[in-house]
Amino acid sequence: MYIPTLLPLLSTLTEKIFNSAATPPTQFPGHVLYTLNDGNQIPSPFFGVGSVLKGSNVTENALLSFKTGYRALDESAIYFNEDTAGLAIAASGIAREALYITTKFDALHGQDVEAEISSSLEKLGVSYVDLYLIHAPVFVKDPLDVWRKMEALVEQGFTRSIGVSNYDATQLSELLSIARIKPAVNQIRYHAYNAQSHQPLLDLAKKEGILIEAYSSLTPITSAPGGPADSIVEKVAKRLSKATGKIITPGQATLGWLCSKGIVAVTTSSKEERLKEQLVPFEKDFPAWTEKEIREYEAFPGWNETI
Ligand SMILES: NC(=O)c1ccc[n+]([C@@H]2O[C@H](COP(=O)([O-])OP(=O)(O)OC[C@H]3O[C@@H](n4cnc5c(N)ncnc54)[C@H](OP(=O)(O)O)[C@@H]3O)[C@@H](O)[C@H]2O)c1
Repeated sequence: MYIPTLLPLLSTLTEKIFNSAATPPTQFPGHVLYTLNDGNQIPSPFFGVGSVLKGSNVTENALLSFKTGYRALDESAIYFNEDTAGLAIAASGIAREALYITTKFDALHGQDVEAEISSSLEKLGVSYVDLYLIHAPVFVKDPLDVWRKMEALVEQGFTRSIGVSNYDATQLSELLSIARIKPAVNQIRYHAYNAQSHQPLLDLAKKEGILIEAYSSLTPITSAPGGPADSIVEKVAKRLSKATGKIITPGQATLGWLCSKGIVAVTTSSKEERLKEQLVPFEKDFPAWTEKEIREYEAFPGWNETI
């Protein structure tokens, strides 16, 4: 899609987006839906505009993700591309309530959480986000102060849900001890080689009803190929291919691993074919991994300490 041809549409669409209240999302075809501990629903997978896309113009990338069928966007103030993602949101013509938008607090305005989300909303061209996360504990000076400010954002209608990212079990427990509104989500780096070390965190999250979102789950394929989990995921991909009658790639099987564990996937790609592929494991009736396959796949903790 060529952006300049869409510019005349932007003001009307932006107006439409600004005028919509914080209405619950209505539909996410092709996504798996989870219910958060605050009663709101969240779709999986997310299209992320961080990591490789950080600091770049992501309008075309986000539009491509929408065209492919993605309806959930993972953003952050520190990705420095909320403005260009906002152009894609406006140009997409998709109703605000049919999109799920996450962005994150990065202390770019000191500890002024309201100033930071206001800046994000303005850049994104929306009047609320669906989920606002503290990007990492390091951005928080006083946990009580910042969490109260996060809670106030829900009451003020800036966001429908709040949560955290990159919190370990100790940090999450500390937060739970002061929270009036529990974090709905913890977004973490999660892949075959660190899954076992995250188990205490996953157990705590389950007990407290906190949903786990995973990023960099393709690590065994992308930055750490050749590891012992490869043969397991290839074996599972073969079984899934037989079961579905389609060719299922190791990448698709990896995202299916997250679905089987009830974990939200945050992934990305610059390629249309791959984006389409990545949606397949979220289709209704896509077969789950067995418990034995999951155990085998996660059996190499810390295999490559550099990842
Ligand atoms: N909360 C946090 O601290 C945090 C940290 C990091 C990331 N995130 C979020 O998570 C998103 C995804 O992070 P990530 O990039 O680390 O995740 P990832 O899903 O593990 O990797 C995606 C990358 O892998 C490549 N890829 C996709 N499918 C592939 C396949 N089948 N074979 C080989 N390569 C493949 C893509 O490149 P191509 O373009 O070539 O397809 C893309 O660059 C980010 O955009 C961000 O929104 C959050």
